[in-house]
Amino acid sequence: MSTPRLFQPLRLDGLALENRILIAPMCQYSARDGAATDWHMMHLGQLAMSGAGLLTLEATAVSPEARITDGDLGLYDDGCERALAGVLDAIRDYAPVPVCIQIAHAGRKASSQPPWLGGQQVPPDAARGWLTEAPSALAHQEGEVAPRALDRADLKRIRDDFAATARRAVRLGIEAAEIHAAHGYLLHQFLSPLANRRTDAYGGSLENRMRFPLEVFDAVREVFPSGQPVWARVSATDWVEEGWEVEQTVAFAQALKARGAAAIHVSTGGVSPKQKIALEPGYQVPFAERVRAATDLVTIAVGLITEPRQAEEILEAGKADAISLARAMLYDPRWPWHAAAELGARVRAPKQYWRSQPR
Ligand code: FNR
Repeated sequence: MSTPRLFQPLRLDGLALENRILIAPMCQYSARDGAATDWHMMHLGQLAMSGAGLLTLEATAVSPEARITDGDLGLYDDGCERALAGVLDAIRDYAPVPVCIQIAHAGRKASSQPPWLGGQQVPPDAARGWLTEAPSALAHQEGEVAPRALDRADLKRIRDDFAATARRAVRLGIEAAEIHAAHGYLLHQFLSPLANRRTDAYGGSLENRMRFPLEVFDAVREVFPSGQPVWARVSATDWVEEGWEVEQTVAFAQALKARGAAAIHVSTGGVSPKQKIALEPGYQVPFAERVRAATDLVTIAVGLITEPRQAEEILEAGKADAISLARAMLYDPRWPWHAAAELGARVRAPKQYWRSQPR
């Protein structure tokens, strides 16, 4: 029997993955001053043992003000770097799996409560709140304090912050980087006409709206050694009329490809509370399929993919090259083991679990 697609190796630039099951980034809001805690050891430790081909770290902030909440993971100072080194060393020693960092800036969606406290904005004058920054001085939701519009010097600072975080990630031995340009955070705010009303070279036309995200991509790509993959996660549509949509995503993906992106991770939504999302199993896969067909980039599909056969069908049909899982991995942190058993393949387990797999 031939190996199921899901368990065939995948090359991302010079990085070889053992299979096509990727763990999606998942914010834990459990860091202290940006630094990983014991929670990260537990959470990432169990995911590292899952048999997935790639483990993506949660959205990791490039500066304190880039965090969604004050509990976000960051990689902007030596304390952050030391704390993350401990977690990564343990993974390398006990459950080696290639690790990708999702490098992020929340823009106007920063300074918020964690979702389990409601997720509302923490205003700048409240304890532990700060004034957010964004392409334009437009609040995400009514009733929120509007962000400060970024000027040229700010853009340079943020680009440098992305590069500095990438440099720390390389020093930590992190194999890959995903630039977070999805879900309504800073780079998506530049792309979407709903959040970007700038009249300078960074707003207006599609080319102008793509300019800053592409500059950030270049800055990170330059820092990562050649052969180590860098790509972006995008929202392929805002699910709002007059918003960012899939053909603009195709143009953005083409521009990223021309700059050396190793892949594209296709999600949707997040920039506007007016979004109307038609949820169903695999609801974002058609967007991945469109982007893949138009660009021939290695394409990662995500969103309500929960069943091994569903995942296999997506790859078999050529709709994507890999799938990423978030909630399914929390529900069943051995999802790849179970998928392997169901589809007739094998995954790697830590040596201590040598008697774990059914025979
Ligand atoms: C997420 N998601 C997410 N996305 C992202 O780009 N960066 C992040 O840090 C997070 N954080 C996060 C935390 C948690 C707890 C969940 C459940 C989700 C979105 C996630 O990566 C994924 O795109 C969606 O959850 C849809 O995929 P699933 O859950 O249907 O497999």
